[in-house]
Amino acid sequence: MIKRRDFLKVAGSIGGVAVIGFPPTLNAQSFGSNLLAIPPLLAGNLVDDIRRYSLRVQRGSKTFLAGLNTPTFGINGDFLGPTLRMSRGEKVALSVRNDLGEPTTMHWHGLHVPVYADGGPHHVIDNGTTWEPEFTVMQAGGTCWYHSHLLNRTGEQVYKGLAGMIIIDDEETLRDELPSEYGIDDIPLIVQDRAFNQDGSFRYVGMRMDVMTGMFGDTILVNGTPSPYFEPTTTRVRFRLLNGSNARTYTLAFSDGRSFEVIASDGGLLPAAVRMTSVELAPAERVELVVDFSNGNPVNLVSLPMSASSPNNTQGMMRNMLRMNHQTFDILAVRPRSQLRRSASLPATLTAMARLQESDAVVARTLVLSMAMGGGMAMRGGMRRGRTMGTDASFFINGESMDMNVINQHVFMGDTEIWQLVNDSMMMHPFHIHHGQFQILDRNGRPPPAHEMGHKDTVKVGPGETVRFIMRFEHFSDAEHAYMYHCHILEHEDNGMMGQFFVT
Ligand code: C2O
Ligand code: CU
Ligand code: CU
Repeated sequence: MIKRRDFLKVAGSIGGVAVIGFPPTLNAQSFGSNLLAIPPLLAGNLVDDIRRYSLRVQRGSKTFLAGLNTPTFGINGDFLGPTLRMSRGEKVALSVRNDLGEPTTMHWHGLHVPVYADGGPHHVIDNGTTWEPEFTVMQAGGTCWYHSHLLNRTGEQVYKGLAGMIIIDDEETLRDELPSEYGIDDIPLIVQDRAFNQDGSFRYVGMRMDVMTGMFGDTILVNGTPSPYFEPTTTRVRFRLLNGSNARTYTLAFSDGRSFEVIASDGGLLPAAVRMTSVELAPAERVELVVDFSNGNPVNLVSLPMSASSPNNTQGMMRNMLRMNHQTFDILAVRPRSQLRRSASLPATLTAMARLQESDAVVARTLVLSMAMGGGMAMRGGMRRGRTMGTDASFFINGESMDMNVINQHVFMGDTEIWQLVNDSMMMHPFHIHHGQFQILDRNGRPPPAHEMGHKDTVKVGPGETVRFIMRFEHFSDAEHAYMYHCHILEHEDNGMMGQFFVT
């Protein structure tokens, strides 16, 4: 394991053409030494028409770095959790037992559920207790996830392993033309970066910069596997990519520049597949890709430096700090078997998606995202209400930091609203809202690219940008429990860039 300072030096010298492995696999030839772990499927037990899942949050340990043991958190295992599979229209009940030795919560990210079942920071599961939410799966099929959402400690608990994937099925996501055999041609890829101490333990937030930029690591894990390889047995593979990192944004591509079809975003299928050669994925975002391996050539899934033309590039004096989004590194080695089973071709239309109309919106809200740094490095905005700057970075939405006792927005059930997000800081914030899926209207007045025209629950808001989304708040009314919205850079969320809303 090379030291952080050395690593930054190495990374800084990469030209952006050659694809290299990340430490500890600096040598491209040796990348892909471990078989990719596939999280076990947990399909639950159908009892009296309710699908019941049993989850246990626990401590564990795992070897990520040769010869070293890393203390971890996991769900029904040592690190991360099983993939929960459920179907649209079903009633599900989850039993979440906490044996962690400390409190936690469990949030179903991207799921349209009543707020008492949402698992936000108010729904603390104390050590030794069990939380049992129930809900009906009402939304379209797609790839969502679950993770800890403990106030001020989400970053740390997710970093240690409290996260997993949720796959929602419906008739469209399971159709024959789409690869959908879990672990065979339908592959979950939870991409995370981690830093380690000398003794093998996770290194979480050592410097103030780790909070300011969010926590970055120099080792990439996919489903908890470092330096992973996967061997396709079919000509086409569906990859369900979840950026489960605390802060890193990936620019996903293949090392030979091949194109792929993007078939789904956060909340389900796109109207039609979108052919691309690279796609940015911010923390908490998901994309489903269908990739053709019929030429049999080995290739690596990589992350490229963020394109110079991307609106998500860090600006001003923060530019140097976020060089981490500008490295080239391997994520997954893909080595097709010599005999490949032929997959069907993709249908021309994936789903009929009704777009919400701007004219249906009855309320427009503006949320300004801003940050301030300690040590006299104040940034614009965000210092209302007499808050004083601490020694750490602080984060604001409309000048306020998260307060469990303040409800920041009130939404009426049944309303369609437009939320205008204004980024008044020098770095991108992936904004996420609970309760359901929205549609992006525009960025700085321009409609989003095709792959962002589907259902979304997390949207990148670049520095200086104004992004508008439209969303219908429906089905669940609750005057006592609040949903959350926040930046999904977990250190920003934990340090104030979060707010609450009622739907009544
Ligand atoms: Cu993925 Cu409020 O969280
Ligand atoms: Cu969420
Ligand atoms: Cu942020």
